[in-house]
Parts: sequence; structure tokens; C-alpha cells
Amino acid sequence: MPLFVAVLVLYIVYISRERGRFLDDQNSKEDRGGSLSNCNLFSGQWVYDNKSYPLYKEQHCFFQFDGVACEKAGRKDLDYQNWRWQPRGCDLPRFNAIAMLESLRDKRLLFVGDSVIRNQWASMICLLESSIPPALRSVSTNGSLAIFHAKEYNASIEQYWAPFLVESSSDHPVFHHLSTEQKVRVREIEKHARYWTDADILIFNSYAWWRMPKLKVLWGSSDGTAGIYQEVDMVRAYEMALKTWLDWLDVHANRTRTKLYFVSMSQTHERGEKWGRTSGKNCYNEKEPISGEGYRGSSESDLEMARALGAAIDELGRRGLKVQLLNITELSGYRKDAHTSIYKKQWKRVTSEELANPSSYADCVNWCIPGVPDIWNELLYAYIFYFSQ
Ligand SMILES: *[C@@H]1O[C@H](CO)[C@@H](O)[C@H](O)[C@H]1NC(C)=O
Ligand SMILES: *[C@@H]1O[C@H](CO)[C@@H](O)[C@H](O)[C@H]1NC(C)=O
Ligand SMILES: *[C@@H]1O[C@H](CO)[C@@H](O)[C@H](O)[C@H]1NC(C)=O
Ligand SMILES: *[C@@H]1O[C@H](CO)[C@@H](O)[C@H](O)[C@H]1NC(C)=O
Ligand SMILES: *[C@@H]1O[C@H](CO)[C@@H](O)[C@H](O)[C@H]1NC(C)=O
Repeated sequence: MPLFVAVLVLYIVYISRERGRFLDDQNSKEDRGGSLSNCNLFSGQWVYDNKSYPLYKEQHCFFQFDGVACEKAGRKDLDYQNWRWQPRGCDLPRFNAIAMLESLRDKRLLFVGDSVIRNQWASMICLLESSIPPALRSVSTNGSLAIFHAKEYNASIEQYWAPFLVESSSDHPVFHHLSTEQKVRVREIEKHARYWTDADILIFNSYAWWRMPKLKVLWGSSDGTAGIYQEVDMVRAYEMALKTWLDWLDVHANRTRTKLYFVSMSQTHERGEKWGRTSGKNCYNEKEPISGEGYRGSSESDLEMARALGAAIDELGRRGLKVQLLNITELSGYRKDAHTSIYKKQWKRVTSEELANPSSYADCVNWCIPGVPDIWNELLYAYIFYFSQ
């Protein structure tokens, strides 16, 4: 009898432990947030994975964006599409387009910034559109705003051109070019920001256009770009612009409704000597990511800009506004192979000298899609679904 009882007790203990283990498994499958939240998603390595990637085919992306459709523009080596980002210690959740669309029902998701955030917007559309019948989706533009609309969900996925966030002489959504004659109105943001007020999710970036030692800063609020300017150290001007941006959010962002993200500096690959090539080489003809320790591409001013951004986000935190940083700097740094390079629609005629030396006109700032921007959206997806804010 005692033996029978002992066996029964042991059996019950065994069953409940197994059941507990089973429930733990279920929980960790259903709510990977638990393990994800202890994990730094931004630190890790790229793993070749041509089974799972790309997440979509370029030619199935109906709104092929000529600036980033590298295959269409003639790129033959397509391995750049086949890399998975593997954070140390956890897996990125897989992007589920239907779940994303459901979460955006009656909402407005808005990407604000330069052409790199436009890359991310284009990627988001390609990730979503295969789940939407053609008649139920549209793309339109209105000034600086490009709008993708999924009718069935009444979901708007938009992109707003503001390369400096604040007002500048490069605010035209099509006719803009990088030059030292750039003028930035570091105190003025309203002209752009009035389009952001009722967004539910706002994702900002601003980096590539700032890369010069000094900037011409305009004071005053008149429209246009004429007026008195002063040359200001770039990092100082960046700090002033971020201050204008954060003050605007402090006043206008709806703390219960709006989720805020900032995408950090996306690395460029313009100087091959930074990964052991001879000088004069850049991302052109690079077919593989940098392996090992990664890319030490950040300049001293890049690091100062990162500190200024971190300080601005902290300041907003003190004012009760949470901005989640999506720090893509490390992961983009490895990917010297994944820029649009010469494989994009060229806006101006390529000269015969340039053709003879393709590196001279390669774009080592923007990214092909499918590719690296899809991973940024998987990171965004992880934050939307697995991290409560
Ligand atoms: C994936 O890559 C491996 C190794 O390079 C290759 O053998 C295989 O054919 C590839 N599979 C696909 C579907 O491209
Ligand atoms: C559609 O979504 C917008 C937000 O993007 C919202 O203002 C509007 O009320 C929604 N329309 C309907 C019919 O729910
Ligand atoms: C463009 O945006 C403005 C300001 O939001 C709005 O008044 C106007 O109706 C829009 N135009 C179109 C064609 O959607
Ligand atoms: C903020 O958003 C919530 C939820 O959408 C809404 O109920 C509230 O009225 C908004 N507050 C302001 C000040 O607009
Ligand atoms: C992002 O991460 C990099 C290291 O990969 C770091 O140097 C940088 O400071 C971080 N950016 C911000 C804004 O914190």
C-alpha cells in the first residue's frame, strides 16, 4: 500500500512537471517577448540563409521602386538577398504581413527622413503587398508625402521627405541634391511636422545629409531659403535640429496614441580602405558582407552625432515620451555588398569616363531591396509586437 501511494505520488509529480514543461514551451512559443526582451537585437551576425530569404521576390513587388530595384537595373549577383540577421542569443520573429496589417487597421504608419528611410518604407510596402489583392491597394503622392493605402484595412503606410527633419533647402521631394550650398533652418520644423501630428506610429531618421564639417544655418521663419546665414559646426547644428524636433514632439505627440521610433545611422561604404581594399575602391562589385569583427566605419563626428541623438532621446524620456531607438548601425556596417551601387535608375546621364570606372558613380549609401531594409522592418515588427512601450 505505501509503495502504491509512493508510486502514485511520483507519477503525479512527474505528470505535473511534464505539463509545466509543456506549458513553458507553449508560453515561449506564444510569447517570445520574454526571451526577446533580454536580448540585444542589434548585436549579432549575418548568416547565409537562402531558404528563408529573400522574404519576397523583387519582380513580385508591384510598386518596384526604380531607385532600389537592383535586379531590374541589371545586377546579376543576387546573394545579397539571402542573408538573415542573427542576433546574439535570440531569433528575430518572422515578419507576418497579415498580423502587421491587422495591427495597422485604421492607422497611419509614417516614415520621416531621407532616402534611407524611403528605402525602409519601400521595403515595408513590398513586405505587405503580396497579402493584399491588387484592387485593394494604391500608392499616391501629395507633395512631400508618399502614401501607400491598403483599403481593406484602411491602413496607411506613408513616407515624408525631410532629410534634415527641420526645414532646409533640400526639402523638395524630387529636385534636391547634396551640396555644400545646403542651407538648414535648424529652428523651423512646422512646415513638415504639421503632416505628422495624427500618425499612430512615427519612424524617423536623419543622417546622410549632415555629413559635412560645417553647415549654413539660416535663422528666422520666412519661407524660402534666402536670408542671413551663419556657418555652424555640423554636430552643433545637428544638436540644434534635434532640439527643435524634440520640443515639437513634446508639445504635439499624443502620449497615449503615438509610438515613436528613431532609426540610427545606416553605414555607408564609400571608402574601401576601411575594410582592407585599396583606396579608390568602394561598395561597387562587393559581393559578400564583411565578416569577423565588423566594420569600423564610424568617424569621430558619426560618434558625436550618435551621442547627440542618444541625449535627445533621453531628454524626451525625461519629458515622458518614449522613443525607441532602432540601432541599425552595427548590422548595416557589415553589408558592403548590399548597396544599390550602380544598379539603380540613374537620374542623370552617366558619362563615358564614369562608365569606364564604375566605382566613381556607385551609390554606397542607399540599399537594394529585397535586402537590408527588410531586416530593419523585421526589427520594427519585433518592437511593435513583442515589446510593450
Ligand atoms: C542555396 O545555397 C546553396 C549553397 O550555396 C546551394 O547549393 C543551393 O542550391 C541554394 N538553394 C537555392 C534555393 O538557391
Ligand atoms: C481610416 O483611418 C484613418 C487613420 O489613418 C482614420 O482617421 C479614419 O477614421 C479611418 N476610417 C474609417 C472609416 O474608420
Ligand atoms: C494633399 O494634402 C493636403 C494637406 O493635407 C490636403 O489638403 C489635400 O487635399 C491633399 N491633396 C490630395 C490630392 O490628396
Ligand atoms: C490622444 O489619443 C487618444 C487615443 O486615440 C485620444 O482619445 C485622445 O483624445 C488624444 N489626445 C489628444 C490631446 O489629442
Ligand atoms: C548604435 O550602436 C553603435 C554601435 O554599433 C554605437 O556606436 C552608437 O552609439 C549607437 N547609437 C546610438 C544613437 O546610441
